[in-house]
Amino acid sequence: MKLIFLFFLALAALGLAATVGQSSTNSAPDGECFVCHTDIADTADIKFTGMPKEYAPGKTYNITLTVKSRLKSMSDVKGGFSATASAGELIVTDQKNTQKSNSFLTHTIEGAKNRTWKFAWKSPKEKIPAEISVMAVASNGDFSPSGDAITAEIATIKPSK
Ligand code: HEC
Repeated sequence: MKLIFLFFLALAALGLAATVGQSSTNSAPDGECFVCHTDIADTADIKFTGMPKEYAPGKTYNITLTVKSRLKSMSDVKGGFSATASAGELIVTDQKNTQKSNSFLTHTIEGAKNRTWKFAWKSPKEKIPAEISVMAVASNGDFSPSGDAITAEIATIKPSK
């Protein structure tokens, strides 16, 4: 608790609290995970299934995202993520575990009990390369932003010819 308090003091001093204030609960953490989750305990990797290498314009793809880490969680809180797409649209397909928050798709409080999440991406109509950027945290479940494993990944998807 002391750590968390110090952390918020530091945030307030930086003037960050106002812009990313929502992040004080582990739902809808808009923003760079690395800003606050800096004390990294272990490595983590992002795995996608269903992520196309090439897309057909205006088509919807179902994607599963998993954050893998050796780091175990001591509580129900196991992880979180946020995803954003440079083109096309990210779509919530699992309202219990994921939600839209501004331009991000992220976990819900319920969704932080998992390290795997499902969502969809609708490709753009125009044929342009698209990037889906993801940040993810595999947490140690201590309700603090320290001691977790953090990672990021960008998937580049080209339009099919
Ligand atoms: C503005 C600072 C801030 C940012 C940015 C932030 N977090 Fe957090 N995060 C916190 C704080 C503070 C806690 C501890 C309080 C809590 O659990 O609500 C926390 C806790 C968590 C936990 C639970 C950790 C545990 O071990 O119990 C997860 C999971 C998490 N954040 C995921 C993320 C993800 C994913 C991102 C990026 C998309 C992110 N956070 C960005 C401040 C932040």
